[in-house]
Amino acid sequence: MKRVWIETYGCQMNVADTELMLGVLGREGYVAADVPEGADVLLVNTCAVRDNAEQRVIGRMGELQRHKHPGVILGVVGCMAQRLGPILLEQVPAVDLVVGPDGYRNLATLLGHAQAGQRVHDTEYRSWEHYEDVPQVREPGPTAFVTVQRGCDYRCTFCIVPTTRGPERSRVMAEVVREVELLAADGVTEVTLLGQTVNSYHDGTHDFADLLRAVGAVDGLRRLRFTSPYPTDFTPQVIEAMATTPAVCDHVHLPVQSGSNAILKRMLRRYSRERYLEVVAALREAIPGMTFSTDIIVGFPGETDADFADTLSLVEAAGFDDAYTFKYSVRDGTPAVKLKDHVPDDIASTRLTALVTAVRAQARRRNAQRVGEVHEALVERPARRGGMMLARTRRNHMVLLDVPAESIGEYHRVRLTGTTGSTFTGAVERPALAVL
Ligand code: SAH
Ligand code: F3S
Repeated sequence: MKRVWIETYGCQMNVADTELMLGVLGREGYVAADVPEGADVLLVNTCAVRDNAEQRVIGRMGELQRHKHPGVILGVVGCMAQRLGPILLEQVPAVDLVVGPDGYRNLATLLGHAQAGQRVHDTEYRSWEHYEDVPQVREPGPTAFVTVQRGCDYRCTFCIVPTTRGPERSRVMAEVVREVELLAADGVTEVTLLGQTVNSYHDGTHDFADLLRAVGAVDGLRRLRFTSPYPTDFTPQVIEAMATTPAVCDHVHLPVQSGSNAILKRMLRRYSRERYLEVVAALREAIPGMTFSTDIIVGFPGETDADFADTLSLVEAAGFDDAYTFKYSVRDGTPAVKLKDHVPDDIASTRLTALVTAVRAQARRRNAQRVGEVHEALVERPARRGGMMLARTRRNHMVLLDVPAESIGEYHRVRLTGTTGSTFTGAVERPALAVL
């Protein structure tokens, strides 16, 4: 029995891909190791969207080499593997194997070659690949990620993902439903559908509205989330399906990237600030109480103080509850490499700090008003401190609860009793009278 340690960086799709690789290798007799020490295979599942994500991986690979005793294989998989391919083998002598996101099916064979002393890579694009037959090895628990779409056909000028993950393709709806049925039979009650522009899902017959309805109808499924949608793919049909499918949660992560129309244009995002705000308003109207989080890049080439001011004002206009904020990072092979007017790093840093401050202040303000509300919360996992548990509301707020560890997977009516600004403390509501 061989033991494999996989370390995962980047987005939720990488988390799902790691579960997939454990499935592929599980069929060949590999088991997941709990720690890198003593593993036969060490894999780093990487992200390539920003340079600092790649630098972290390079640093970590240096550390992992401590566990690379004779016979142990060190491999790089994921988006950075796809982006750099054989260059990684040339530049990092300790690496034995490099495999991109479309090559995981062959992982066991490639590991065999590596164990025989070869240094191997597979970065071929396979636009048909969905790993449909691979039984994923998931962490047990009430929630699960389900990839419904791989690749991306959009061409945001800053983004390396279309290069690392290839063309967009959707799984057949019936296959997705079957997987969710199996998960539900296993006790999973919340599913997050994954895709780079997940609401552009189309399997040739069914669109994302159909998918939401079909998955939402699976017996035992109480919550349905998805990430990340693209603003202009929220068709009236999709919004209608969201509003009429009770499992669909009241939170959308909707990357905006910038609040300035000039910058959105240079980014080749296919909407204006006004259009984005219309989409937010339409979703809020269809699903009252809906919350929004987003991704924002500062310091994109050509971004002026006025453009950045537009981003700050959009944060308020859209009423975000959370934002993942990034300094623009030049990626070789993306169209934005050719853009002039680079923003000096110190200015980008200052803008990032200002943006983070604005987002936090807004979240604190909005959350303070929510104290006292009662929400349904799913107990997900132990909190880091104090023997408490972390639960999540349908609006994606995290609530610290004083409930026993056995309550993981339970749904409770919870009163929000306080807030740190970003998360809440809560108390389980007991019915005033026992129901006889
Ligand atoms: N379609 C995917 C995007 C994947 S990249 C999704 O919506 O999940 C995730 C985020 O990383 C993007 O939304 C963007 O905000 C950020 N990002 C991508 N490329 C970047 C770059 N070159 N520099 C800085 N941030 C970037
Ligand atoms: Fe990247 Fe834009 Fe696609 S951010 S993943 S190219 S939608």
